Amino acid sequence: MMLHIPEVLSKADVLAMRNVLDAGKWVDGSATAGTLAAEVKCNSQFSTESAQYLGLSQAIAAALERQPLFVSAALPDRILPPMFNRYAGGGTYGNHIDNAIQRDRLTGDRLRTDVSVTVFLSEPEDYEGGELIVEDTYGSHEVKLPAGDAIVYPSSSLHRVEPVTSGVRVASFLWVQSLVADAWQRNMLFDLDMALLKLRAQVGNTSEIVTLTGHYHNLLRQWSK
Ligand code: NI
Repeated sequence: MMLHIPEVLSKADVLAMRNVLDAGKWVDGSATAGTLAAEVKCNSQFSTESAQYLGLSQAIAAALERQPLFVSAALPDRILPPMFNRYAGGGTYGNHIDNAIQRDRLTGDRLRTDVSVTVFLSEPEDYEGGELIVEDTYGSHEVKLPAGDAIVYPSSSLHRVEPVTSGVRVASFLWVQSLVADAWQRNMLFDLDMALLKLRAQVGNTSEIVTLTGHYHNLLRQWSK
C-alpha cells in the first residue's frame, strides 16, 4: 500500500527548513548506500555531522508522529532519524530495494526497515523529473508531491528516483520499524481502522462497532509480537 499524507509540514515550516538546509553542508550520497545501491545512487545528503542536522531530523519525525494517518498506516515502533537528500544536475537513484537493516548512527541501534517515507521539501514546479517511482504488485506508481506532503510505502518495494534534469529536488527520507512487520497485515489493520473511523462517524458507537474495534486491537495484539 502506498499512502499520501498531505501537509505533514506547513509551507512556513518547509521554508524555514529549506533556509537552513540550503545554507548547510551536503556530502556525496553514495557513501551511505549499500554496496549495490551505491552503484545506482547519484545525489547528495545533508551532512549528519552538521550542527543543524539533529534539530531538523527531529522536527520531521515529530511532524509525522502528529499525523494519525501515518500512525495508523505505519504502526511505528521505532523511527530511524530522518535524513535529507538533494538531487540536481541529472542526479538520480536507480532501481533498488532499501537495506533491510539500518543502523541508527546516534545510538548504534539496528532497525529493521518495514516502512519507507519521503517528505517532499521542494515544490513540484521547482524541478523537472525527480519522480519517485515505486513498483508493487499492482504495478508502477509515480509520485511527485507538493512541498510538505509525505508518501509512505513498504520498504520491500523496488523503487527509484528519476533524473532531475533541471532545478533542485530536496526531500527528507526515513525508515520505520513497524510494530507489525508484515505489509499485508499492516494494510489490513489500516483498512479496518479507517473503515471503523468512518462507521463511527456515521452511526456512533454501536455495540457492533465496539466488537469490531475489539477485533482490531486483538489482531494488533496478535500481529505485533
Ligand atoms: Ni530507497
